[in-house]
Amino acid sequence: MAPNLWRQRQCALTLVAMALLSPGGWAAPQPPGAAVASAHPVATAAGHEILAAGGNAFDAAVAVSATLAVVEPYSSGLGGGGFWLLHRAEDGHQVMVDGRERAPLAAHRDMYLDASGEVIPGRSVDGPLAAGIPGEPAALVYIAERYGRLPLSHSLAPAIRAAREGFAVDDHYRRMAGFRREVLLRSPEAAAVFLDDGTVPTIGHRIRQPDLADTLEHLARSGRAGFYAGPVARRLVDGMRAAGGIWSLEDLQRYRVVEREPVRAVFGGMTVTSAAPPSSGGVLLVEILNILSGYDLDALEPPRRVHFIVEAMRRAYRDRAEYLGDPDFVSMPLGRLASPEYAAGLRAGIHPDEATPSTLLAPVSGAPPAGNHTTHFSILDGEGNRVAATLSINYPFGAGFVVPGTGVLVNDEMDDFAAKPGVPNVYGLVGNEVNAVAPGKRPLSSMTPTFVESERGVAILGTPGGSRIISMVLLGILEYADGRDADALVRAPRFHHQYLPDVVELEPEAVDADGRASLELMGHTLQEQERPWGNMQAVTWEYGGALRAASDPRGVGAAEVRPWEVPGDVPVRAQRP
Ligand code: DON
Repeated sequence: MAPNLWRQRQCALTLVAMALLSPGGWAAPQPPGAAVASAHPVATAAGHEILAAGGNAFDAAVAVSATLAVVEPYSSGLGGGGFWLLHRAEDGHQVMVDGRERAPLAAHRDMYLDASGEVIPGRSVDGPLAAGIPGEPAALVYIAERYGRLPLSHSLAPAIRAAREGFAVDDHYRRMAGFRREVLLRSPEAAAVFLDDGTVPTIGHRIRQPDLADTLEHLARSGRAGFYAGPVARRLVDGMRAAGGIWSLEDLQRYRVVEREPVRAVFGGMTVTSAAPPSSGGVLLVEILNILSGYDLDALEPPRRVHFIVEAMRRAYRDRAEYLGDPDFVSMPLGRLASPEYAAGLRAGIHPDEATPSTLLAPVSGAPPAGNHTTHFSILDGEGNRVAATLSINYPFGAGFVVPGTGVLVNDEMDDFAAKPGVPNVYGLVGNEVNAVAPGKRPLSSMTPTFVESERGVAILGTPGGSRIISMVLLGILEYADGRDADALVRAPRFHHQYLPDVVELEPEAVDADGRASLELMGHTLQEQERPWGNMQAVTWEYGGALRAASDPRGVGAAEVRPWEVPGDVPVRAQRP
C-alpha cells in the first residue's frame, strides 16, 4: 500500500460481522497454486501431500495439525487445543473453530493457591493438575467432517506414519527438551519417549511414538468417540487420576468445539479477520488498530512511530487483563472496546512525547498495584480456501506428563487462567475474576490466527509466543499494510509492550541506537532481549500476482508454494454430516 494511503485511513471497526464487511466482498480470482507454511518441514510436506491427494485446505489443516502434534511435541498436540480460522471460497463463509481446552469439572477457583491464599509455584504449569480437557482431537474431527473432503483415515495418515517411523531430533528440539528435562523426568512415559536414557537426545536421534500412533488410529477409525469415549478415554482418565489429576469421563464426553464468529476490523481499506474470545487476540487488534488509525504512522520518525504503537499496546493489554475471559462464562464490553469513540478517548490520553507509566492507567480491579510453546500454520489451496491456525499445549512440552498407554502429552493451559488476581502467569500476564478458574471454563488465550483481505489480495498469518503473539501479529499487519509480502512479515524485527511489566521489549534490530535514546528520553524503559521471539508462518497472495509462503527465520519451519492440480480420483468421505 502506498504510504500516503495511511493518511486516508478511516478506521471503522466492529466485533460483529456486518454486510459491508462480509467476507467475499472482494471477488477473488483463482490462486495460481497452493501454499503451506508451518513450523516444521514434515508438517508442511504432510499438508501438500493431502492437497495433492485431492484434499482441500481444511483436510490439509487436519493433516498439518496432526503432524505438528507428532513432530513438534513441545508446541501442540492431541493433549492440547487451538483456534482454526477458516475461509471457504465457494461462499465466503468464515468461522473460527474454537478447540480451546476447558477446565475439568472438578476444577475450582482457588485450586492453585495454598492455605494462606498464595499461588503454589508450578502447580498450574507442571504435571496432571495443570491440564485442561483437550480440544484438538475434537477440532480435527469437526473440521474434517464439516469442511473437509477426505476421510480422516487419509488426512491423519501422514501423522500416523510420522509417529510410527519417528522424526529426527534437531537443535530446536534439544533446546526445548533441555528446558523441560526435569519435568519430563517425573513422567516415566514422557521420559521414555522424549529423552534418551534420561538425557536430552542428540541431533539425529529418532523420536518414535507408537502409542500416539495408536491413539491417532482410534481417532481416524471412530472420530471423536476414538478419543473422548471408549478405551482411549478410559486410559486418559485412569492415567491422569493415578498421577494426581482430576479429569473424569464426563469431562471428556462433554467436551465440544464451538464455532465462533471471528472478530473483524476494517483498517485503511483492509479487512482484518481474527480470533474471537476466548482469545484476546482479535479484540486487542481491533482496539490497537482503532487507536493507531488516528495517527499518520508513515509520516512519523521511527521512534515516535514505535512510541505510539507501544502506547496503544499498553492500553489494549490493560483492557485484556481487566475485561476478557471465556464468552460462555462472563459478559464482556466488546462493543465498547471495539468502538472508535472508546479508541479516541484512549488516544487522547497518549502524550506525543512522553510514555504513560502503566501505573497511571486505571488499575486492573482486584490486582495489587503493579507488581515459549505453541505453533501456527497458514494454508491457501488452489480454490481459494484458507486456514490460519494457532495450536498449543502452552509451555514447552505442556505439563510434561504423558498419559500411560496413550502417547498423549497433556497441556498446561490452566496456567492461562488468572490463578489469583494480579499474580502474573508464565508470560507475565495478569488478570482478574473474569479469567478465574471455573469448572468447564476456557482459559483466556492470546492466540491470534488472522486473515487480512483487501482489493490487493490476502494475507494469512499468525505465530506462537505467549503474550507477545498479539503484538507480533499487529506488526505483521502493519508490514502488510505497507505493501510487503509474506517474507517481510515473518522477518520484521519485533517490539512489545503488555502493560505490565512496564517495559518495551525489543529485538536487537527493532530500533537503532538513536531511536532507543529518543524512546528513553520519552520515559520508556527498554529491554533488549538476547533471544529473538516468535515463529510466524505467513502466506500472501496478490490477486493476479505473486503467491508467497514464508516461515519465520527464527524457527525451523518450512514454507512452500506448489502448483495446484485438480486431482482425478479423490477418496471422498462416505458421509457428510
Ligand atoms: O493460549 C495462549 O495464549 C498461550 N497458551 C500460548 C502459549 C504460547 O504461545 C507459547 N509460545 N511460545
